[in-house]
Amino acid sequence: MATVKLAPSILAADFARLGEQVSEAEAAGADRIHVDVMDGHFVPNISIGVPVVRSLRKVTRLPFEVHLMIADAPRYITAFADAGADTLIVHQEAVTHLHRAVQQIKQLGLRAGVAINPATPLGLLEDILDDLDLLLVMTVNPGFGGQKFIPSTLTKIRRARELLDARGLQADLEVDGGIEPHTAPHAVAAGATVLVAGTAIFHQADGVAAAMQRLLQSCSDTR
Ligand code: DX5
Ligand code: ZN
Repeated sequence: MATVKLAPSILAADFARLGEQVSEAEAAGADRIHVDVMDGHFVPNISIGVPVVRSLRKVTRLPFEVHLMIADAPRYITAFADAGADTLIVHQEAVTHLHRAVQQIKQLGLRAGVAINPATPLGLLEDILDDLDLLLVMTVNPGFGGQKFIPSTLTKIRRARELLDARGLQADLEVDGGIEPHTAPHAVAAGATVLVAGTAIFHQADGVAAAMQRLLQSCSDTR
């Protein structure tokens, strides 16, 4: 069975005690921390930015993957790299010169990821796939936590898995949005290797560690 990695999304954390919540996720075995950056233009919501990444860098050894849901992502690549990001994920829909952006990220020594929305055909990434460290298939429309998983995205996850395997690529295949114990096993069976989860980790009455355990357990018979 392939190991499934968890990337807790701090969008759902208690911002009044963000450092503490990140530490809880680290202690519970998170593989990385997922940071959702939203600008009110590319997506209809505003979240957090560079200073938050810089502050959190001091409280954890976990890698940060920064999911840029912003209109002009290339303009902020250097700032997020300086703040301590390890992976930068840009949206295919938001970046005109995707190849340039991916190279810019890699030249700074970071891992490069590209995200696609539910309505974006996977084929649009065919010519950039070999350059990616991470492919993020959105399983909701980006912009908000707590949305419902879109089942039709499973087909795209399956096709992404086939494409990566056919080319012998080791990139992470990540899913983001509506990932909880009922949906996670389907995403993993389709070929996802990294699960982003906000609500299912930070909004659970029994706490972060129990919630992460529950998510992993839900996938344990899947692959
Ligand atoms: C949505 C963000 C997600 C979000 C997921 O636009 O990209 O990372 O935090 O939240 P949940 O797990 O609550 O769907
Ligand atoms: Zn995200």
